[in-house]
Amino acid sequence: MSKYRIAWMPGDGIGIEVMEATQIVLDKLGLDAEYVPADIGWEFWCTEGEPLPQRTIDILKTCTCGLFGAITSKPKEEAAKELVPELQDKGLVYSSPIVRLRQLFDLYCNLRPCKAFPGNPLNYKDDIDLVVFRENTEGLYSGVEFYPFPDDLRAKITEANPKMDRFKDIQSNDIAVSLRVITRRGAERIIRKAFEYAKEFGYPTVTLVEKPNVLRETSGLMRRVGQEVAKDFPQIELWETNIDAQMMWLLKNPDDYGVIVTSNMFGDIVSDLAAQLVGGLGFAASGNIGDEFAVFEPTHGSAPKYTGQYKVNPNAMLLTTRLMLDWLGESDMAQALEKAIAAVIAEGEVRTYDMGGNSSTLDVANAVAGRL
Ligand code: IPM
Ligand code: MG
Repeated sequence: MSKYRIAWMPGDGIGIEVMEATQIVLDKLGLDAEYVPADIGWEFWCTEGEPLPQRTIDILKTCTCGLFGAITSKPKEEAAKELVPELQDKGLVYSSPIVRLRQLFDLYCNLRPCKAFPGNPLNYKDDIDLVVFRENTEGLYSGVEFYPFPDDLRAKITEANPKMDRFKDIQSNDIAVSLRVITRRGAERIIRKAFEYAKEFGYPTVTLVEKPNVLRETSGLMRRVGQEVAKDFPQIELWETNIDAQMMWLLKNPDDYGVIVTSNMFGDIVSDLAAQLVGGLGFAASGNIGDEFAVFEPTHGSAPKYTGQYKVNPNAMLLTTRLMLDWLGESDMAQALEKAIAAVIAEGEVRTYDMGGNSSTLDVANAVAGRL
């Protein structure tokens, strides 16, 4: 029996190609794992009305962790149109399987390191080393949304908060509402993870990015909890910034920042910017990590435009695999993989189109494997 059981979820589009690339590298590393294929993605939405079938959830429950390629997501109406005729008009509503996996398995920590590898021509600046900790289960992604806005709920909210009164002339089917849910538990555990990481890897600061001057209650709670948690880490300075200004500062002085922690939606935004600073989504890895289980996925999507061409940069997926190896406790393999990726980038001979080369996805994987 293998040491690990890894749910293998290529998903859609280029997800399939980058997972093939990572298989080459994992085989070369000789990880003692069984890879269990699991269905997820657009195809299963169209044919079964369920992009995350129950059988996949059942497989995940038997695995050490999951590795995931990419997924296609479309807004509600467009998604409904692509269902097979038998499933049309059944009232099925598409919801992102990765967001559901995060919530279902309580993978509250979305870890997104963005590091400028020496020699990467796409680096915005050298010496960038950002690690984004994004809360992954609540905030604006709570999924608690209303449209049309139910009258009884509306009446209750107006009673509890007179600010709602300002919208009283708007009809219920002209208002959509999303609930930004921040819990003390959610805030505390993600902020603590960020501080623990800063402590372990020697980052002098943790930047808590929110908007407490406007979102007084939700960002306010994040801020209060941030200040409490910071007391347990006297050697690390807590910087508090607002999301809008932080976007500007990240572009201006990215090397001033290290560990960044924030709520779900802000984290989604910050992590794409951070990715672009180090070469774009082709370099952005991520781990969805809970206390006992984790699913690793590159930050990028399924890139339908490039599907089937083996053109895209697999480094995001390879760096994601590196995060998985670390989480599994296979630190030697994790470090070896990162060194090999760094060497191929620095050498500059095997490069995908985004880096100005014409090597394929699998060429890069083979070059990395060749250095292991
Ligand atoms: C990400 C992605 C997802 C998100 C999408 C695909 C639902 O943008 O992982 O950052 O919004 O979290
Ligand atoms: Mg995103």
